[in-house]
Amino acid sequence: MTSDPIRLGVAGLGRGFVLTLPSLLADRRVELVACAAPRKESRQAFLGQFGGRAYPSIEELASDPDVEAVYIATPHQMHREHTAVLAAGGKHLLIEKPLAISIADATAIVEMAERAGVIVITGPSHSFDQPVQMARELIEAGQFGQVRMIHSLNYTDFLYRPRRPEELVTEQGGGVVFSQAVHQVDVVRLLMGGTALSVSAATGAWDPARPTEGAYAALVQFDGGRFANLVYSGYAHYDSDVLQDDIGELGFPKDMTAYGGARRALAAVSTPGEEAALKSGRTFGAVDTPPLAPGSEHFGPVIVSCDRADLRLTPKGIEIWGDDRREFVATPASPSPRAEVFGALHDAIRIGRIPAQTGRWGRASLEICHAILESARTGERTGLRHQN
Ligand SMILES: NC(=O)c1ccc[n+]([C@@H]2O[C@H](COP(=O)([O-])OP(=O)(O)OC[C@H]3O[C@@H](n4cnc5c(N)ncnc54)[C@H](O)[C@@H]3O)[C@@H](O)[C@H]2O)c1
Repeated sequence: MTSDPIRLGVAGLGRGFVLTLPSLLADRRVELVACAAPRKESRQAFLGQFGGRAYPSIEELASDPDVEAVYIATPHQMHREHTAVLAAGGKHLLIEKPLAISIADATAIVEMAERAGVIVITGPSHSFDQPVQMARELIEAGQFGQVRMIHSLNYTDFLYRPRRPEELVTEQGGGVVFSQAVHQVDVVRLLMGGTALSVSAATGAWDPARPTEGAYAALVQFDGGRFANLVYSGYAHYDSDVLQDDIGELGFPKDMTAYGGARRALAAVSTPGEEAALKSGRTFGAVDTPPLAPGSEHFGPVIVSCDRADLRLTPKGIEIWGDDRREFVATPASPSPRAEVFGALHDAIRIGRIPAQTGRWGRASLEICHAILESARTGERTGLRHQN
């Protein structure tokens, strides 16, 4: 199988691409052959490191006959436009989360891909993380009974990492709901199975200097009276990775001596332009490709309550707290933290095995993000309509 890797192009050589790159390079099921990037320095860096072709426009990437699939890693608001061009060119798509900002754009993405007969996978997303996949398999095996409740929490410095100006404007896809809740929603939907019915939520926008949501608590009701509780703070001083064996989101042991680093770096910039430049300083070509993380990625502590056991997901495996005994099931060694994503892309294209995280899946998760915002605004429970 690895003798026939997916010939992959990438659109957008920013931060998301840098974080995915080590896994991409480690995976023989995909081969990076081309990119589209508006900045000349990024294109030159790409050619220097990988060879292949580097185009200034998405249209040229879409016309490259050697490219089978494209990883869309451009800002959320561009996903629809880039899907239109690439799907028309017959390219299968791996589209960064969130699938889009508006439900209308997400629907357009789903419909354009279906019309063109191309596969869409929404990701990378933490629902692909190995412990999540493993917990799902354990649940599906049936010995623990039904999932009844899931608790998921994450305390990070997300809001103080360097941002483009629009990443701090909710209407333009900014804030933690579009960028972070979407991961928690993906994780709990995958573990719960079934259909989400409604959302009750509160959000917090506590820093006038960064006037978008930085925190939320959401109760998502699923069919059968089952529910999930999602709590997130991107303003945190506390770091919930201490509950995760001191392993960070990306699978690296956390350097706790770097405490407060995001706030310190941000305090050194004084204009939105300087902040955007600080962010560009972390994109492809500006930084070395990060090393491959030694372990799984994660998105904070998750506890799944089933009829006959509670399962706690850790970066290294699953703690099973059963009726009369406890055990730990370690995740097997994996070639890279995002191997499941590239495995899913490969298998979808080569053997037609479509993962859960399709375009429709991405739209359903996005709808829950919108429901979090709407419920917080109205004080009412918000019903869901796009979950299938
Ligand atoms: N899964 C993850 O771990 C993760 C992490 C970060 C970001 N993301 C996602 O990745 C996406 C991009 O976010 P980011 O933080 O990397 O932003 P970014 O600003 O760092 O990168 C975006 C890149 O897109 C490029 N771009 C803009 N217009 C383009 C065009 N017309 N054609 C080609 N390239 C173009 C920019 O030059 C830039 O390099 C978002 O949807 C975000 O949610 C995912």
